[in-house]
Amino acid sequence: MTRPRILSGMRPTGPLHLGHLTGALDNWRRLQDSYECFFVVVDWHALTSEYANPSDIRQNVLEVTIDWLAAGLDPARSTFFLQSLVPEHAELHLLLSMITPVSWLERVPSYKEQQQEIQDRDLATYGFLGYPLLQSADIMIYKANAVPVGEDQAPHVELTREVVRRFNNFYGRVFPEPQTLLTETPRIPGTDGRKMSKSYGNAVYFKDPPEVVREKIKPMVTDPARKRRIDPGTPEICPVFALHRAFSSVETQAWAAEGCRTAGIGCLDCKGRLIDHLLHRLEEIHERRPRYASRPDDVWDILREGSRRAREAARATMEEVRAAMKIRYPVA
Ligand code: TRP
Ligand code: SF4
Repeated sequence: MTRPRILSGMRPTGPLHLGHLTGALDNWRRLQDSYECFFVVVDWHALTSEYANPSDIRQNVLEVTIDWLAAGLDPARSTFFLQSLVPEHAELHLLLSMITPVSWLERVPSYKEQQQEIQDRDLATYGFLGYPLLQSADIMIYKANAVPVGEDQAPHVELTREVVRRFNNFYGRVFPEPQTLLTETPRIPGTDGRKMSKSYGNAVYFKDPPEVVREKIKPMVTDPARKRRIDPGTPEICPVFALHRAFSSVETQAWAAEGCRTAGIGCLDCKGRLIDHLLHRLEEIHERRPRYASRPDDVWDILREGSRRAREAARATMEEVRAAMKIRYPVA
């Protein structure tokens, strides 16, 4: 009666925002009911881009874990852990690197895209090229059956499936092929209308108190056609409406759409209701968060205990991997 296993992870790049809620955490939380879940904070993956300035990683590991707990992930039912506390991931990554053609990594779309997008750092490193293969190791070492991810990560799971097939072909069937559980991600815009992201400075964070949420939403970009209160607008092109879509009731969505098209409401009314729904959505998170934020030692304990459990599973897999690859010796 074992439940199928999933694994997913996040890089510790900072506190989490509304985009993480709709893009991952709401889904992860539901999956806890039907899967055995492993959730990993991938600090080594953070180093692939932050290697020259790693001093924020430690605090960000804590922030991410606190925000997972605040979002309702349950460490009693799921295993939360820290990648670098399970060094077997590095061993599997190394062994997988022996069988993975460089061309498979070079053609992963995020490789060239990120290199072009991120100009202030040199990403022409060995580690950055190997980023998706380290991710494959994260997934494979737990023999995960499925990986819940957004569309941007789907090519990484696809690569993992290819690596699994190649490994199993060479050495016998050790790993299952993980399925991609695609998270339907409504693209969450930030306050400036671009994708919500820490790097754009347009995000609403779990840790933002209600006043800050209000202050961020009030000046938010709207349909520019609504210059005056009497000008009608097009909700479909308005980022405020996109947030209504993700966080408001269907009644409020209908009210906003109708009021916008007919100029029956003003943008401030529209934002006011959005703020109400957002704060309602954040209520639970705001309620849970201080418990953990005020006790970082408890949070580290959760990661320590989860990493211990994860490590047991990872060690068992590595025994099999070494045997399959003929590098198990009678000396241990
Ligand atoms: N690359 C993922 C991201 O940036 C994080 C990640 C690392 C991950 N290892 C993983 C996600 C394994 C799913 C499974 O979001
Ligand atoms: Fe956007 Fe609402 Fe203003 Fe319409 S009324 S432009 S949906 S903020």
